[in-house]
Amino acid sequence: MNIILVGLLLMIRPALSMMITHFKCRGGVYPRSSIERFPVPDDKVSWAVDYKEYKPRNHTAQSIHGKPWADPEIGDPEFKPNWNHLDKNVDRQSYTGQYKVVDNYPLNPIGRTGISGRGVLGRWGPNHAADPVVTRWKRLQSGEVEIDKNSNKPILQFVAIKRGDTGEWALPGGMVDPGEKVTTTAVREFREEAINSLVMSQGELKAWEAKFESFFSDGEEVYKGYVDDPRNTDNAWMETAAYNFHDDGGHVVGALNLHAGDDAVGATWVDATPDLKLYASHSSIVKEVLERRLNAFSQV
Ligand code: BGC
Repeated sequence: MNIILVGLLLMIRPALSMMITHFKCRGGVYPRSSIERFPVPDDKVSWAVDYKEYKPRNHTAQSIHGKPWADPEIGDPEFKPNWNHLDKNVDRQSYTGQYKVVDNYPLNPIGRTGISGRGVLGRWGPNHAADPVVTRWKRLQSGEVEIDKNSNKPILQFVAIKRGDTGEWALPGGMVDPGEKVTTTAVREFREEAINSLVMSQGELKAWEAKFESFFSDGEEVYKGYVDDPRNTDNAWMETAAYNFHDDGGHVVGALNLHAGDDAVGATWVDATPDLKLYASHSSIVKEVLERRLNAFSQV
């Protein structure tokens, strides 16, 4: 099949489907606290289902109060959020569509989480992140693409970082700054967490940008939506936009020197396998990238 046709087919492939329920933000102890979430059985997640006994604890971490990236409390006369809109430069729109606001509190679009308030998240409602999935084919010494002996398929690798907070392997993503384009966030976070650009001089940074500018200008969107993140609450939740930056020939990102930086404590190339366990919803994002890449590989 010719390469343009493959490109077109990839473009019309629907993005990874939206999440319809959540698990990681339901049950257990809320992160960085000793607060137990109120139990939410599978059939009581939806707000549309009555759950009279539901009495979640209200929790907003002390640590976020007064932070420049955090909203004030609801009820503060100065705080007049424009829910479901771009609010000055804070994006309060959800990729899942219009969310409900009940008694001035935005409601998690997937449903109950067993805890109300904002927890450790800065924004009421959606908190936007962006994730880069930087990939290459694993190669043998000879330069040839390595084929997995069990599946008989080429092995895709992606850059993963070890999160400082949970110790889990994750995509090197991060929060979108107010007014920032999500694609810009994805690349900036990659530089900060996987390359440790925060310790680079201005000159080194310029050289890095010149070298990788075209590679990172061409990401393919693979997911935009809700994330089953352990920090989610009934009134605040994570959403992300994930982009795949793929180095098919292995010459561009092969030259990358990975060094964990910012809040990451490790950075490495990891083989993408369908049973991989990663932070939040990152494994479903990587699985989607793996499928797309393997399809494209077998069609060329
Ligand atoms: C992380 C992203 C992640 C998002 C949602 C952010 O803190 O940096 O990688 O997708 O949370 O879990």
